[in-house]
Amino acid sequence: MLDFVFHNATKIIFGKGTEDRTGRELSKYSKKVLLHYGGGSIKRTGLYDRIIKSLSEAGVEAIELGGVKPNPRLSLVREGIDLCRKHKIEAILAVGGGSVIDSAKAIGIGVPYEGDVWDFYKGRQVEKMLPLGVVLTIPAAGSESSGGSVITNEDGLYKRAANSVCMRPVFAVMNPELTFTLPAYQTAVGAVDIMSHVLERYFTNAKEVDFTDRLCEATLRTMIVNTPIALKEPENYDARAEIMWASTIAHNDLLGTGRLADWATHGIEHELSAIYDIAHGGGLAIIWSAWMKYVYKHDVKRFAQFASRVWNVEPDFRNLERTALEGIEKTKSFFSSLGIPVTLTEAGISSDRFEEMASKATERGPLGNFVKLNREDVREIYKLAL
Ligand code: NZQ
Ligand code: ZN
Repeated sequence: MLDFVFHNATKIIFGKGTEDRTGRELSKYSKKVLLHYGGGSIKRTGLYDRIIKSLSEAGVEAIELGGVKPNPRLSLVREGIDLCRKHKIEAILAVGGGSVIDSAKAIGIGVPYEGDVWDFYKGRQVEKMLPLGVVLTIPAAGSESSGGSVITNEDGLYKRAANSVCMRPVFAVMNPELTFTLPAYQTAVGAVDIMSHVLERYFTNAKEVDFTDRLCEATLRTMIVNTPIALKEPENYDARAEIMWASTIAHNDLLGTGRLADWATHGIEHELSAIYDIAHGGGLAIIWSAWMKYVYKHDVKRFAQFASRVWNVEPDFRNLERTALEGIEKTKSFFSSLGIPVTLTEAGISSDRFEEMASKATERGPLGNFVKLNREDVREIYKLAL
């Protein structure tokens, strides 16, 4: 096990009706906040009205900025920074999913910084962010307690991440009932993203990490059992609750303690969602099995362990490679069973821009820690995903 520091200070407020506590919680940070949200789902579901009520009961004034799109854009972030400065806002409330939260984080780090906020997405270290509270409406990205924010710069279609421990929200309100209204597609791609955050950490070269291996496997099993239930019964509270808590645990860094995570698949996917504007989890469902097929020989034993413990494949000790390959197939067919495309062809994406995407993905150096991937490797993985 590698040495580590684990510090996750996001307060989780989990359960039925918890959104009513938002105003009280937020008022500990400021009486004037930016209320940031997406394209309108919160108004359709009635959540918006409940949040406004909770804020006003706590004496919190809200300046609004809606309109965050999935794969959030830099231009709206800039607008948010100007708005916060104009109204001297000192805290932000994000109501939505990963896109809204990431946009809120970008605004929160941009306000106290004199330069261009995009500097942070080009590698500048973040040192400060306005306090950010979250009401989560879709379990997927894990941004409600992660230190990351992923933003797309329309100028050149660059999708890049900024990361810092100071970018973790101060609190996250998580009511599984709020996820009953999710379309099946968003439930499915969200589940793939959650599982991806575990897989990125599972495929590591660190040795003697059995405890975190087991935590990863338990999280994956929870998703494998509960996602089909939530798809069939969107208002099944218990399944929604399991998924929602798993989404946070998958990406709050607990599962990565003592091990070096990979992150190549995310890097390869971000080029897809930047250029084709597909859902991040949708892109991951396509890339995973291609990446696995490309790298599994690096550690056949780990892949066989994954197959056996996560997918209940009977291990073939005389031919572990066969066991490993069966685990990869099971992963792909599970994603497919959720009703989403698992190849580029199924998603209507051709090989036209593979060179460009492979170059952009590796422009800051090789991707991945489990196996280092250069431009040619990434291009081959796109080909395998066709
Ligand atoms: O915009 P609205 O109208 O609210 O609709 C949203 C959006 O269209 C809808 N939705 C959300 N909650 C709903 C709902 N519809 C009905 N009922 C509800 N309760 O769902 C759509 C997708 O929302 P989005 O926020 O884009 O989803 P997600 O949480 O998957 O976030 C994706 C973004 O997060 C980034 C991704 O790259 C992508 O840009 N990621 C962020 C990470 C982080 N900050 O740590 C890590 C991840 O790996 C990921 O890269
Ligand atoms: Zn992700």
